[in-house]
Amino acid sequence: FHVDWDLVTAEKAGFDHFMLKEIHEQPQAYRDTMMGRISEDGKSVDLKEVEMTDEQIKAISKIHIVACGTAYHAGLVGKTVIESLARIPVETDVASEYRYRSPIITPDTLVIVVSQSGETADTLAALREAKRNDARVLAITNVVGSSIARDADDVITTWAGPEIAVASTKAYSSQLIAFYLLGLYLAQVRGTKTQDEITEVIDAMKQLPEQVERILEQSDIYKQVAEAVSKHSNLFFIGRGLDFAVAQEGSLKLKEISYIHSEAYPAGELKHGTLALIEEGIPVISLVTQEELYEKTLSNIKEVKARGAHVLAIANAGSEAEVGRSVDELFAIPKTLPILTPALSVVPLQLLSYHASLALGHDVDKPRNLAKSVTVE
Ligand code: AGP
Repeated sequence: FHVDWDLVTAEKAGFDHFMLKEIHEQPQAYRDTMMGRISEDGKSVDLKEVEMTDEQIKAISKIHIVACGTAYHAGLVGKTVIESLARIPVETDVASEYRYRSPIITPDTLVIVVSQSGETADTLAALREAKRNDARVLAITNVVGSSIARDADDVITTWAGPEIAVASTKAYSSQLIAFYLLGLYLAQVRGTKTQDEITEVIDAMKQLPEQVERILEQSDIYKQVAEAVSKHSNLFFIGRGLDFAVAQEGSLKLKEISYIHSEAYPAGELKHGTLALIEEGIPVISLVTQEELYEKTLSNIKEVKARGAHVLAIANAGSEAEVGRSVDELFAIPKTLPILTPALSVVPLQLLSYHASLALGHDVDKPRNLAKSVTVE
C-alpha cells in the first residue's frame, strides 16, 4: 500500500492552490476575527486588546492609516468605515510615501498600521516614525509576535490563519472585519452612533460568513468570465466610494497573478482623461453596490458602453432590474449594509483573478518578481 503524499499537497487540503484554499477559508476567518469581540447579546463590540482608555479614545483628533499593497487597500475601506461610524477624520497613506511627506503627527493622532505579515519594512518604518512623534500606534496584523505586533501600543489580530499564497485574500477581508469592529468600538466610546445603529451593523456583520459561502458556491460562473477576460491585455475596474476602494484591490489582484494590465478608476473621473483609452470590446468591471451612488455610476457605465466597452457588473442581489439593463453581464452578491459590502464584493474579484491566472498558465501562488513578505525598503 503506497500513498503519494507530500506536505505541500496535504496543506492545500484538496484545493489545487493555496490561493483558492485561502479564498474558501474566508467565512471561517470572518467568524474567528469576530469571535469573542461581539457581546453575547449582539449589542456591542469589546476590543480588550485595545488598551486605550475612554479618555484617550475621546481625545483622538485624527487617524492616519498606513500600509502597503493590499493592506493599504483595506485601509482605504477603513477610512470610510471609521469616518462614517466614529466621525474622526482619517487619512490613508501608502507606507513607502508616508514618512517622506513629513506627515503632521501630533500626540492626539492615532496611527493605524495594517500588515498581514507584520514584517513589511516600510510599514514598520512608518510605525517608528509615528512613535518618534509620540503618536499612539494601533496595529492590525495577522501574525502574533511579529515585529509590528511587538512595537505597536495596541494590536488587533486578524484570525485569518497562515496565508501562504503571495496574493493576499483572506488577510485583506479579515482586515476589513477588524476595521468594522474598530469603527464600532470607537463609535460606542465616542457616542457617535445610537444603540440601534450599532446593533444593525453587528447583526449584518454576523451574516457575512454565510453570505461569502453563497458567493463561493457560484465559483464556476467567475471561471467562465475569467477565461474571457484572460484574452485581453488591458482592462478597467471602476466604482465610486467604497466600490472604488474595492476596485483598486481587484485591479491589484488581477495584475499580480495574471500579469494582465488593469487600472482602477473612480467612475466619475473617467471623462477627465482615461475615457480616451476605452475602445471596442475592452472589458470594464464595474462595482455597483452603493445604493446612494447607483445613478451616478450607471451614468458612467453608459459613457463607457457608448464607446464599445464590454461592461461586467458586480451588484447587489435585488438590483438586477435597475443595474442589469445598463450592463452586459451582472453578477449578484448577497445584500448587506452598504458599509459592509466590500467584505462581499471583493470575493468575486479574487475568484476572477485566480481563474484568469490559471487560464493563462501562470504560477498562481508564486507570481513572478514578487515575495510574500517585503522586508526591504
Ligand atoms: C497582496 O496581494 C500583495 N502580495 C501585497 O500587496 C501585500 O499586501 C503587501 O506587500 C503588504 O504586505 P503585508 O500585509 O504583509 O504588510
